[in-house]
Amino acid sequence: MAKESEESFESEVGKLNELSIFDHSETRRKFIKQVAGTSVAIAIGPNLLKSAPLDQIDSTGAAEAAGESINVHLKINGKAYALDIDPRVSLLEALRERLQLTGSKKGCDHGQCGACTVLINGRRVNSCLTLAVMHESDEITTIEGLANGKELHPMQAAFVQQDGFQCGYCTPGQICSAIALLKENHANSDHEIREWMSGNICRCGAYAGILAAIKEAKTKVRA
Ligand code: FES
Ligand code: FES
Repeated sequence: MAKESEESFESEVGKLNELSIFDHSETRRKFIKQVAGTSVAIAIGPNLLKSAPLDQIDSTGAAEAAGESINVHLKINGKAYALDIDPRVSLLEALRERLQLTGSKKGCDHGQCGACTVLINGRRVNSCLTLAVMHESDEITTIEGLANGKELHPMQAAFVQQDGFQCGYCTPGQICSAIALLKENHANSDHEIREWMSGNICRCGAYAGILAAIKEAKTKVRA
């Protein structure tokens, strides 16, 4: 039984990997192709694919379009990046289209679904509603930064154990939001969890599993 349970868990972790919950470029590309291929293909232009860690970038890097880009330094999942970027680019666009951190999903792009939720200085933020240039000195954490190597964050593990997802499109945002929810001490009853997670929509209706996962993680999540 224990072996079956382990195999089942590994299988579910494999699904999470395919949903970009781990930082694995091959599976991430596969998921983008399968789920969001058309819109991503339209959205990603050749100019938008330039990015590099700070230690690899030319500090005098050419602007994308003369007079329209500015240089910004972002710290994401503990790693520093420098970008020449249009000041109107949202943090979500910068993550997905400049840095290929595609775990954060674009749902509505209007602050209504929570699919794009990331942690900024430990607080949950809809990355579609904030500009990348506003976060020079901030600590940004995306779903790719939660696991410790192959060890899932307790909230990720709880989502697997409790079937907290179906298609998985909302899951990165749900997990980031749930981690902040615990820090906010807003998980003291089922009603409170539902209320404070109401900004994260799940089109698959996996709410029962999400609730169970948050309750399980509450006893295990690291500070
Ligand atoms: Fe940001 Fe929906 S994509 S809230
Ligand atoms: Fe499909 Fe939430 S699991 S949208």
